[in-house]
Amino acid sequence: MEPSQLAVIARQAQENAYSPYSGLKVGAALITNRGNIYTGANVENASYGLSICAERLAVFQAILNGDRGLDTLAVVSSSPGYIYPCGACLQVLAEFAPDIKVVVANENQEIREYYLNELLPQAFTLR
Ligand code: THU
Repeated sequence: MEPSQLAVIARQAQENAYSPYSGLKVGAALITNRGNIYTGANVENASYGLSICAERLAVFQAILNGDRGLDTLAVVSSSPGYIYPCGACLQVLAEFAPDIKVVVANENQEIREYYLNELLPQAFTLR
């Protein structure tokens, strides 16, 4: 699947974000090397620290389904510019897919593509 198509699916997931506190809606779509797609949106809580990012929700859905071969992750948001996964999400991606491609799209659905090691060089590891 083209990265731009994955960004469209992320945009659909963004609609289901629950973010009354920050007002920012984030959507993520993840495709695995089996061709399955998992999505996520940020889900906030009145106890702010319980909120989860769109990206981690998508990753955890893939892991829950035993589908650990994460290939490409697309991330979009309700802000006009590009949004990048936060440090916590990058570290979770590094756990399962150090070579994953990360695609970000702005409000015009223009695309930028990265590999994880460009966004999180020298990721923490116990090995
Ligand atoms: N958020 C994400 O969903 N992904 C990111 O990479 C950065 C931040 C969410 C968390 C919170 O609901 C809102 O954006 C503002 O921080």
